Amino acid sequence: MLKGKRILLAVTGSIAAYKSAMLIRLFIKEGAEVRVIMTEMAKNFITPLTMATLSKNPILVDFYNPENGDWNSHVSLGLWADLYLIAPASANTLSKMAGGIADNLLLTTYLSAKCPVAVAPAMDLDMYRHPATQASLSLLRERGVHVIEPASGELASGLDGKGRMEEPEEILHQVDELFERKATLAGRKVIITAGPTREPIDPVRFISNYSSGKMGYSLAESFAGRGADVVLVSGPVSLNPGNPRIRRINVETAVQMKDAVISNVDNADIAVLCAAVADYAPETVASSKIKRKQSDMTLNLVPNPDIAAELGKIKKKGMITVGFALETDNELENARQKLKRKNLDAIVLNSLKDEGAGFAHDTNRVTIISSCGDVVEGVLKRKEEVASDIVDYVEKLLLCSRD
Ligand code: C5P
Repeated sequence: MLKGKRILLAVTGSIAAYKSAMLIRLFIKEGAEVRVIMTEMAKNFITPLTMATLSKNPILVDFYNPENGDWNSHVSLGLWADLYLIAPASANTLSKMAGGIADNLLLTTYLSAKCPVAVAPAMDLDMYRHPATQASLSLLRERGVHVIEPASGELASGLDGKGRMEEPEEILHQVDELFERKATLAGRKVIITAGPTREPIDPVRFISNYSSGKMGYSLAESFAGRGADVVLVSGPVSLNPGNPRIRRINVETAVQMKDAVISNVDNADIAVLCAAVADYAPETVASSKIKRKQSDMTLNLVPNPDIAAELGKIKKKGMITVGFALETDNELENARQKLKRKNLDAIVLNSLKDEGAGFAHDTNRVTIISSCGDVVEGVLKRKEEVASDIVDYVEKLLLCSRD
């Protein structure tokens, strides 16, 4: 997979920098072209001469060459690369990437990179598990950065735990997989609904639910990462899509969500209805804030449109539609009924009984049930990995629908 690929490898100050020398050799052996960026600190761990000799290219550290003033353009580096890999990625660099700080060439190149970005963290176990580092990694993942999880074992500090940069062979394997997956959905149009809806009661109150949008946004990143053009119809959430292939349409209510879906569904190959749409909305919205009274109050609710079911009625031949079902009892049977009623090709079931699954968690455990009778049970994984499994399954359905 790596033949002819252009890999931009950035190295930060970590004892694991010696492994990146081995990584360059592996990439070159596989036929890739490699250019290397180093931070100032990285030069204390491995010499630029070693990295330049192995990569067969001069090493880039500064914004310009102090000897002749040649400008190292971060924009053209970001455009040149098919993959930007930061390995080892220190806690410092990960936090700066998450915060959008741009005080060295590695970081400006990250901010202007148009290609997929991967990081291989390397640090002491306490630094790795610190909430600040974990928050940076979560944010980067949400923005579509592929994280090559560190391995567990003996660390340079003498401690034993998670934080060791993955071995070069495993990094090579994951990079290979990234390229393999890259453009399998190029030219496909995907529409995704995500997050909760808000149904206003009066100017300051609404009915909503705990949906964080994480699953829908992870799906959007996963589809876009494979080259699809994604329309993400999103209820109010605190997430931002990272991939430029994702066009977000912000909505609040179920009716607005339905209108946005219907007016953007033309030519869509795939629709994934992941939003937690409120089933009911107040019949009328008070024009001014409802005042407290001593007596009881009744709010009359009317049913919202079922976007998935409406799409099921109008969907064109060959279009794949996938829904979600969050069930608390009789899960499989209820999910199967929804699959049928909404004319879906597959439904992703999550059960509230599973610890760590469902609303607001970073992890999920799902079972995919298809209209052709498949039941694929998953294990508890990060939502990004679950998204990738779902996209794998959708690709399989696309192939079947073509046959
Ligand atoms: O019927 P239920 O709400 O459990 O169905 C869940 C599935 O239907 C999800 O895919 C959800 O996004 C979709 N749905 C919808 N519009 C609604 C309610 C649910 O698209 N009004």
